[in-house]
Amino acid sequence: MQIFKEKGALQSVITALKEDKSVIGFVPTMGALHEGHLSLVKQAANSCDVVVVSIFINPTQFDKDSDLKNYPRTLESDLNLLKELNLNILVFTPNAEELYDGKITAEHFDFDGIEYEMEGKYRTGHFDGVGTIVKKLFEIVQPNFAFFGEKDFQQLQIIRKLTQKHKLPVEVVGCEIQRESNGLARSSRNERLKAEERENASFIYQILKKANMKFGTESAKEISEWVKKEFQTHPFLKLEYFEIANSHTLKTVIDKESGTPYRAFIAAYAGDVRLIDNMALNN
Ligand code: PAJ
Repeated sequence: MQIFKEKGALQSVITALKEDKSVIGFVPTMGALHEGHLSLVKQAANSCDVVVVSIFINPTQFDKDSDLKNYPRTLESDLNLLKELNLNILVFTPNAEELYDGKITAEHFDFDGIEYEMEGKYRTGHFDGVGTIVKKLFEIVQPNFAFFGEKDFQQLQIIRKLTQKHKLPVEVVGCEIQRESNGLARSSRNERLKAEERENASFIYQILKKANMKFGTESAKEISEWVKKEFQTHPFLKLEYFEIANSHTLKTVIDKESGTPYRAFIAAYAGDVRLIDNMALNN
């Protein structure tokens, strides 16, 4: 494993690897690594010769200063986790000044409306920040494949749009959601949950599973109303949104059409920790 702080040094190594016809896989992260991130790295290593993992807490994608401030910073243990994988990994840990050329602002993107659904409604400007940083990182790393988790399904679809619209020569690969033993989707934010909240947060997964069962016989509207009621009486969790949406456009389902893929999406707070999850629905 090699660690690079400066983009120039990383780029020279990547250029040499590409001349040797090595296939480059890329896993962008914000650190505080857990099994979810590591599963992406392992999947990348299965199909690529070298895996570049970036660790960078991107300031332009946070809509709240407090969220940026509270974001866990665990570089030393992140590097240990990556090293223990014993894979061919290049770690990129840039600083904001160099990446943003001293001007820490987001570019504005048109993602055909996907950016205004769900997360886009509740986290203003978030996807402009994500688009800005991922485009910059793709330009530096020039990967053949880039791996993103379905945990952030809307982000995955945004990145697909980004590569299509800007004709970036990268194949985007979506990877399955990794969960804790109680079903809670793994997230760097889970570390901030109190033991009781962490246990109770598996409710989110239970709701998604029940929504999936109901989807065969009930309308999206009926299911959404049922979910709202279930959360009203929950002692630890506060629902922000629940949506059943078309997996491609992310628009809320009005009338189901057979053959169209749908997913249920949820965001909820446990104390001040915001959790998101989603699930493909059987149709
Ligand atoms: P971060 O939240 O660190 O996540 C990095 C990658 O890990 C994302 O693709 C995310 O979907 C994936 N991931 C996180 N938890 C997962 C889980 N439980 N199962 C499967 N995959 C999981 O997402 C970001 O960082 C940033 O927005 C980034 C793309 C790096 C841009 O700054």
